[in-house]
Amino acid sequence: MKKIAVLTSGGDSPGMNACIRAIVRTAQYHNLAAVGIRRGYQGLIENDIIELDARMVGGIISKGGTVLGTARSKDFMTVDGRKKAYENLKKHGIDAIVACGGDGTFTGATVFMKEYIDIAIVGTPSTIDNDLYGTDYTIGYDTALNTAMEAIDKIRDTADAHNRLFFVEVMGRDAGFIALRSGIATGAEAILVPEIRTVKEELIEDLKKSYELKNGSCIVVMAEGDDAGHAYQLVEMVRGKIPYEDIRVVVLGHIQRGGSPSCFDRVLASRLGIAAVEALVKGKKGIMLGQNGLKITEVPFEKAIKHHQELSPYLVAMMEVLTV
Ligand code: F6P
Repeated sequence: MKKIAVLTSGGDSPGMNACIRAIVRTAQYHNLAAVGIRRGYQGLIENDIIELDARMVGGIISKGGTVLGTARSKDFMTVDGRKKAYENLKKHGIDAIVACGGDGTFTGATVFMKEYIDIAIVGTPSTIDNDLYGTDYTIGYDTALNTAMEAIDKIRDTADAHNRLFFVEVMGRDAGFIALRSGIATGAEAILVPEIRTVKEELIEDLKKSYELKNGSCIVVMAEGDDAGHAYQLVEMVRGKIPYEDIRVVVLGHIQRGGSPSCFDRVLASRLGIAAVEALVKGKKGIMLGQNGLKITEVPFEKAIKHHQELSPYLVAMMEVLTV
């Protein structure tokens, strides 16, 4: 192996740049050349590849987003697209790739490696959703949580001032990790996650109880992918059935994806970036590097994709005790 490429793919997450930096510097440490592929697999198909060295990735550790850009490539899902991608890798003398992304990124890598067995790909779990099996934390989750927490704290101030009910929708298309932790951290009166069925009657009872107990503000933190629907739909579902008349919705949206990564994410991303290159150096491929407790884990892509990451039972138990 002489040359390693790094790409970021799927939804960006804070800490991707710290990961790119660590990958490039670890490659150099092992006397390997490093290149960056812009816009994920799409950039690979379009031959958008740049040389990188340790100096060029200086100063990016604190930046959100990804300096390489990212994309969800439809072309890479086609045989023709992957053929072009392979030809470009060969043109540049690239033997190995570190792919920073989530489910979709690792699915693409798995298909590609089945077709082109001389290419080694390993991955780092980079998504704010924390929904990848085999790692306690994904890169970007901690930063997104802190962004959500700060925003909800601010919403609480105005909710208190007006005795209002707020539905705050956080990201998480299929997973409730952001909702669960940010909800616990902000003292939400109710937390709704896709993993636990939302029972309309129970939610109405909880909101009534919250009103009677405090006659003050009430915050429902919910994941965008909750089974009962989006925040605006939930408001219509409860309106008129609860004493709160003044109800507001805040959809936090993409602010959760941006911003300077937290200390935790910078260190996690750097550690996993180093581990990814070291795995390639040892001849490994088809794995995602994760962290369980303090240990680095190697999770086969197929396992990371197929298994669903369960919500931590202790957090679910905390939610039950601490909400209304
Ligand atoms: O996968 C991460 C995620 O942030 C989801 O929680 C969210 O549904 C999605 O990305 C939004 O993606 P896009 O930026 O393409 O709208």
